[in-house]
Amino acid sequence: MIKPWHATLLTLFPEMFPGPLGHSIAGKALEKKQWKIDTINIRDFAKDRHHTVDDTPYGGGTGLVMIADIVHEALKTSENLYPDPEDKPQYIYMTPRGKPLTHTLARQLSTNKTGVVILCGRYEGVDDRVIEHWREEKGLIEISIGDYVLSGGEMAALVLLDACVRLLPGVLIKEDATTSESFETNLLEFSQYTKPRVWNNKTVPEILLSGDHGKIEKWRQNCAKEITKNRRPDLWEKYINSTEKNS
Ligand code: ADE
Repeated sequence: MIKPWHATLLTLFPEMFPGPLGHSIAGKALEKKQWKIDTINIRDFAKDRHHTVDDTPYGGGTGLVMIADIVHEALKTSENLYPDPEDKPQYIYMTPRGKPLTHTLARQLSTNKTGVVILCGRYEGVDDRVIEHWREEKGLIEISIGDYVLSGGEMAALVLLDACVRLLPGVLIKEDATTSESFETNLLEFSQYTKPRVWNNKTVPEILLSGDHGKIEKWRQNCAKEITKNRRPDLWEKYINSTEKNS
């Protein structure tokens, strides 16, 4: 039997998982054992009776930094969840300093046969030496979900996991639903409509009712192009470059 894609979260808030990922597509896939999720509570590795996990930053300043040794122990424990030497999960640290999350990156992570181990930081972050160590030893990568600062990595990890899980084989009913979607093609989605034909004095574009699949396809392509050109000139440029290369 093939092993499901296995995500392990290292966090001070294990109760945040699976959270929203227990619903919708990811939740169904979890029920069907198409992927699985484990959490490791970083606080379990605290060494004093107050269960302290952080300390003041060298050099001064506000906030607290998560202690290297505690995070390191938690990461080492995650290795026990992947005992097969063939299993090499991608180690990830969620941080605004990371590589921006894109569809391409989500696709790459979802094709890692084993899965991911995700470290979620809190406070002002994690002692950088532990990040450096796991980068050097296990190829850890840092990922950001956007240019804004969240109060911890947990929400970012939920976003990352949602983007990956829907791309796992068999999770979406139509496999090719994901290969023709936005960001795979560098075009935003065309506009969609359903019944009724007239709503609030607004009608559905006539062509979509014609039953002419060729014309409908053309209309959708045009619609996707116009929307991309107007809303995302950066993506439009990528689209133009990729179509030039292919022609
Ligand atoms: N932790 C805090 N902010 C974040 C962000 N934007 N992306 C990933 N992890 C984060």
